[in-house]
Amino acid sequence: MPDVEDPEPAPLKIAVLVSGHGRGSNLGAIMAGCSSGEIDGTVELVIGTRTDSPALERARNAGIPTIVVSPRKYQDDEAGYAAALLRVLGKSEPGLICLAGYMLKLPDAVLEQYPGRVMNIHNALLPLFGGKGMYGENVHRAVLASGVKLSGCTVHFVDNQYDNGPIIVQSPVPILDADTPETLAARVLVQEHKCYVRAVRLFAKGALSIVERRVLGADPE
Ligand code: GAR
Repeated sequence: MPDVEDPEPAPLKIAVLVSGHGRGSNLGAIMAGCSSGEIDGTVELVIGTRTDSPALERARNAGIPTIVVSPRKYQDDEAGYAAALLRVLGKSEPGLICLAGYMLKLPDAVLEQYPGRVMNIHNALLPLFGGKGMYGENVHRAVLASGVKLSGCTVHFVDNQYDNGPIIVQSPVPILDADTPETLAARVLVQEHKCYVRAVRLFAKGALSIVERRVLGADPE
């Protein structure tokens, strides 16, 4: 038998966090990217905040293990919430955690356990139109009200502030005269799915590095 000096790296194990009644379309895009081989990885676990979540239903239908860790149960007990998340994450030992429509701030203890291994998708071009309260349609409403001519989406590494960590990929979407929050959201969402799959694919290949606030390795191909 020949010596195997450089065995192929194992596929990336991915855990995805979703919130509330999220529909899970970004989760779906990541799952599809893994199934098609575009991402060298597998979604091992989806963690939700409530049982009646369409995103969790989507994962269950695909045979992916799901679990609910209810932040309500840990109101005013961030340490308890963090410990519960770490317990379930520890069982699947993910190489990457993807927030996909997860609207809460991930406890510091979780970020400390997975440094540089947590990503988020945001439906605007950060650093504009992010932060607490800026989620879902609120974002598109604020974008339209501001009069900017360009919106888009951002995938970034997560730090301990909302929508703030180093940016991995962004995709612009022009704003049209006839846009409403709904029409803009629909066009941005198409780009979100592409951006998230691209960011996870690059991460799985080991292509990304973080240098201060810059993420290198994601030049347009
Ligand atoms: C996406 O548009 C995502 O960018 C946004 O929630 C939506 C989830 O949709 N995230 C945020 O606003 C985070 N600040 P999905 O459940 O269909 O993936």
